[in-house]
Amino acid sequence: MYNGTVTLSSYLTVIFSASFLGARIAAAYGRADQAARLDVMTVDGVWPAVQGIAYGGDYSPEQWPRETWHEDVALMREAGVSMVSIGIFSWALLETSEGVFDFDWLDDLIELLHDNGIAVDLGTPTASPPAWFFAKHPDARPVSRDGVPMGFGARGMASPSSPEYREASVRIAGRLAERYGGHPAVVMWHVHNEYGQPVGEDYSAHAVLAFRQWLEARYGTIAELNRVWGTAFWGQRYSDWHEVSVPAAALSVVNPAQRLDFARFTDHQLRQCYIAERDAIRAHAAQPITTNFMANSSWVTDLWAWGREVDIVSDDHYLWAADPEGEIGLAIAADLSRSVAGGKPWILMEHSTSAVNWQPRNVAKRPGEMARNSLSHLGRGADAILFFQWRASRSGAEKFHSAMIPHAGTQSRVWREVVELGATLGRLAEVRGSRVQADVAILWDFESFWAQDLEWRPSVDVSHAERIRAFYEQCWRAGITIDFALPGHDLSRYSLVIVPAQYLLTTADAANLAHYVEHGGTLLVSFFSAIVDEFDTVHEGGYLAPLRDALGVTVEEFLPLRENATASVAFDGSTLAADVWQEHLALAGAEVMGTYLDGPGAGMPAITRNRHGDGVGWYVSTRLDAAGLTRVMAAVYADAGITAADLPAGLEVVRRRGETHDYVTVINHGDTVASVPVSGFDLVGQSEVTRGTPLAAGAVAIVRTTT
Ligand code: GAL
Repeated sequence: MYNGTVTLSSYLTVIFSASFLGARIAAAYGRADQAARLDVMTVDGVWPAVQGIAYGGDYSPEQWPRETWHEDVALMREAGVSMVSIGIFSWALLETSEGVFDFDWLDDLIELLHDNGIAVDLGTPTASPPAWFFAKHPDARPVSRDGVPMGFGARGMASPSSPEYREASVRIAGRLAERYGGHPAVVMWHVHNEYGQPVGEDYSAHAVLAFRQWLEARYGTIAELNRVWGTAFWGQRYSDWHEVSVPAAALSVVNPAQRLDFARFTDHQLRQCYIAERDAIRAHAAQPITTNFMANSSWVTDLWAWGREVDIVSDDHYLWAADPEGEIGLAIAADLSRSVAGGKPWILMEHSTSAVNWQPRNVAKRPGEMARNSLSHLGRGADAILFFQWRASRSGAEKFHSAMIPHAGTQSRVWREVVELGATLGRLAEVRGSRVQADVAILWDFESFWAQDLEWRPSVDVSHAERIRAFYEQCWRAGITIDFALPGHDLSRYSLVIVPAQYLLTTADAANLAHYVEHGGTLLVSFFSAIVDEFDTVHEGGYLAPLRDALGVTVEEFLPLRENATASVAFDGSTLAADVWQEHLALAGAEVMGTYLDGPGAGMPAITRNRHGDGVGWYVSTRLDAAGLTRVMAAVYADAGITAADLPAGLEVVRRRGETHDYVTVINHGDTVASVPVSGFDLVGQSEVTRGTPLAAGAVAIVRTTT
């Protein structure tokens, strides 16, 4: 499995096992071409065998008569579609009753696609178990936190802790792999769909038993469980494992350490479901295996851990229509996908051609917006651009969702743009495999978010997602590319590490951050960080204590502001605006760079800077507005030796580095003409550009450059 680094031996292992398995499959199927084909099923050990930038989407022909299938493949060819994902919600059609399988229609479909040169990303249908499964196993239904068992008629998996669900999902995945693992059209496996949505936490009887086992394996004794959960508080002491349960709804706030462990357990159970299916497929098939993530929109799964279990990262991204700068949220998701892929190319598994159907107001994309979205993902490392879905569904819950073929058919703006995008991607084949490199990292730690998001925190206005976006926006506007990272990662390649919210920070991870500073790094830490350890227990020595040496400061007391209250900070000769939060800092060697002018902290230090070893640690103890943060960031960039680009509003610039060329994606999200900041050959417009060449409002250039 891919684990973030490619070594020669891991590459050879993949190639070797692919050819070994290929020979076995060839023997089993008697198809002489199989063994040779499996040797080239992946490129660089992980990439599906599709030429250039893969293009396509989810395809659900089971919703249509056979005549439509033939029209579909003809139109796919017209649009340049090279790969489709099929079978994702087809369990009820593939296993019509327990153990009774009907693969005929899928055989025909795969042959049709293959005959038309369209590669298949084959789904396992386990995100939507059939009605017969729930009728037979009613106890496999997931149960909500307030005890309601979920009904049938929507989609969503069964309880991830149900042994019957595990068995049934492994069986269907294995049967599919047995049948299609050797099919030349199948280039990738798509396990399940979006683990964690809509079933995240499950409070069923199966979950209770599995949670106890998970805790026992983790903590060994009930005494240790009592210690780490701090059960002396409110008299929650347990004397035996059978007394321990899931943190179901209770009269008041449930033990936060118990809830944090339940979040970990939920992630673990979902991941075990994935691993079980993956291994059942791997027994018969050599193609890369993935499952589609929801970076930056679901917090249920710890994508760092999942990234180690997939052969290639794939992500689904949908714009949030209420966000006037959705392109920034998109960039965050893309950068997170690339980061959990260890910097390798990844797959944009789903996005929309126009409006979605599940937001309060589903805003249609404007002309050109779909291409801008797609090319932003590509610029940030995606080597496949896929959509949900190929043809709009006439029935069911998603009939108002856009598609590559909308209800209006091919006489439509959306279809014309789909064809145009296919042609554009065809001109971008050489970009494939090139890598984005970032000098700045922002920490992103799901465990910390799970802990911080529980009840009874000092202020409801403090949000890790909001601070991540605030710091990320600063960098996006300055043309600075970001990687996301965990606090325990090797951070030495970054000039600057930003800690926007790290409520939970283990002592070991704090030591890693201090080590980073000591060896010359610049660390910028935002308020409400390093408060608790892995058990949601406040650090000995108080808030921020584990970072005391790196930052030269700790926090004596939180000073949250009232709703809508504002405050100001004197910094470098100007007054910066802030709100939500102040702190009473205890200096331990840091230099005071900014001082509170008003509010409960009036006269106290607000922003500090500390030399530690060869590096610098900055601390910002309040929520500055964007203009204020820009001022502080300028000083931080200077310490880190980073140059912020002077870009016009709305101009997105990001670079991929290839072996012989770089590829600079330039997207003008603004309403006025901007200019290209580099010289070279624009692969989108197929023309030479020089620094300063005009770029129309809404236009994109991807410039092959040697600079
Ligand atoms: C995704 C899901 C797809 C489709 C899409 C609609 O989250 O994987 O199956 O429902 O949303 O936007």
